[in-house]
Amino acid sequence: MIPREIIEEIKYRCDISDVIGQYVNLKRAGSNLVGLCPFHNERTPSFTVFLSNGSFYCFGCGAGGDVITFMMKMDGYTYIEAVEALAKRCGVAIPKETSGKYRKPDEVSRDRVLAMNLDAAKFFREQLKANQAPMDYLLNRRYSPALIRRFGLGYAPNDFGALTGHMLGLGYNAKELSTAFLCGISKKTGKPYDYFRGRIIIPIIDTKKDVIAFGGRVIDNSLPKYLNTSDTPAFKKSRSLFALNYAKASCAEEMILCEGYMDVMALHDAGFTNAVATLGTAITNEHARMMKRYTKKVLIAFDVDEAGQRAADKAFRLFDEVGLEARVVRVRDAKDPDEYIHKFGPERFRMLLNEGSSRFDFQTENILKQYDINDPQQKIAALREITSVIASVYSSVERDMYMHKISEQLSVQYESLKNDVRNVVRRNRKKADENETNRIHLAAAGFGGRNMREKLNTLTSSSSEEAVLGMLLRYPEFAELVRSGKVSLDSDDFSTELGKRLYELIIEKCSGGEKPENLLNEFFSPDEIGLITGIAVSREKLTNTEAIFRDCVSNLKNRKEGEDSGDASSISDINDLINRKRQDIENNREE
Ligand code: UTP
Ligand code: MN
Repeated sequence: MIPREIIEEIKYRCDISDVIGQYVNLKRAGSNLVGLCPFHNERTPSFTVFLSNGSFYCFGCGAGGDVITFMMKMDGYTYIEAVEALAKRCGVAIPKETSGKYRKPDEVSRDRVLAMNLDAAKFFREQLKANQAPMDYLLNRRYSPALIRRFGLGYAPNDFGALTGHMLGLGYNAKELSTAFLCGISKKTGKPYDYFRGRIIIPIIDTKKDVIAFGGRVIDNSLPKYLNTSDTPAFKKSRSLFALNYAKASCAEEMILCEGYMDVMALHDAGFTNAVATLGTAITNEHARMMKRYTKKVLIAFDVDEAGQRAADKAFRLFDEVGLEARVVRVRDAKDPDEYIHKFGPERFRMLLNEGSSRFDFQTENILKQYDINDPQQKIAALREITSVIASVYSSVERDMYMHKISEQLSVQYESLKNDVRNVVRRNRKKADENETNRIHLAAAGFGGRNMREKLNTLTSSSSEEAVLGMLLRYPEFAELVRSGKVSLDSDDFSTELGKRLYELIIEKCSGGEKPENLLNEFFSPDEIGLITGIAVSREKLTNTEAIFRDCVSNLKNRKEGEDSGDASSISDINDLINRKRQDIENNREE
């Protein structure tokens, strides 16, 4: 593993507030910084950066850790990659010749996958030049030779061993190739075979110009129409966008979001170089948060079919949640933007873009389509749906605008509409508060995380367990009491698997005076580190004397023997969190 001194040097030099500040708008709150959590959607900041010890914790979703954990969660890096990225950032050198040794021997690195992808992309490109059928297919669909070059399109021959043979010849092995999703491994023979066969290959290139994945389209009507690279050490589809490498230069004001690769390429070919698409998956909130970093406004240009419209509805919701303005573009007389632009040309498409509808108009149009508003009964039903749409809008100014608009459009009294909306808003808030409280309750008790499932069976002992671990984490003198035998404690006294491992790390690995928080990333997953940070953070607000530590230890031991009594400290932790969150909600509520 990377030497501890180097990790500490990196953490010292990479100020956590600078690193996180690149992704989150942080504001001072006492001695800490707070902001909107980048790991879940929220309106009131629960994401806290503790400057005193260089850690972060989100009271809403339980994400937490140090600057390294943050990079792992934010950019999907492995531990090593996060350390390397931070080292680069602050100019700390990691000895090159040893850096390979840090990796587990059978782990395929991100860099290795990128190297394979680049070689594969070159191979596919050569194959497209050598094969007429796929080239004809593209030209028939009116994709220009310039576009084919620009997007580095290729062709995977209809052959089980073409790419695999080529890549093995370049020195990559079967395991590496299958990790990169370039080949599969035959169950029968154990031999590798080409994953993409008889398909046009569309390389997915990220903003650093690395080929991170491929999409492959058949050139006939066979199924599945597309194959895509699954997640690899170099690729997470839930946070990748096709053509962002080109779009990023021209999307600061507006970005066009399409459903398909072909739509994006047709748009780029026609001069709309700010078009992107998700890759073989519906849009996720990670995509939405990412797009918000690149643009002010998204134009959703999905297929006209039912599925496309449902996807547009979801996209709108996600953009709304992250506070990114969006409009939906209604493609007419063609099934998708690709067909539209080839049928009617770029000027007409430009006009469509300018006529985009807001989320509210999109929703009300969809509702009104289903009812005959000349029929009083149906009009009431439509109004009921529209009322709940208006009530779901966060800003009261916006709600008011919509109420005026609808009262005029459907000739209903503004005041009665306003009353109805207000009632629904109240009902929704009450529900939201209840849910929020429950969620925090559960998160504080550790049920939010997968890692402490065992807790469901051992609730009482794990609350003393958290108290003990929290004190051990933050107060080296208590760990010393345990090491010297002055307090008797053993990993078997802990009832959760996470507790045992954390205990062992603190007592054994930190006996030379290392800080446990500097070792966490090496031995725990980012999710586990979130839980551990939560344990440490909630302990800080409580009294932590040696007497209390001894008390909690004996509680823990007693619990193991089956005794049962209330655990005041842990319950007060939970109540503390809940009250804090309630206060937040109250303070931030607009009415
Ligand atoms: P479409 O079927 O709309 O594809 O699927 P398209 O890109 O417009 O292709 P053409 O015009 O029919 O040639 C939209 C997107 O959904 C994913 C792909 O990312 C595709 O671009 N998809 C679709 C798959 O991943 N697998 C499939 O089998 C089909
Ligand atoms: Mn299409």
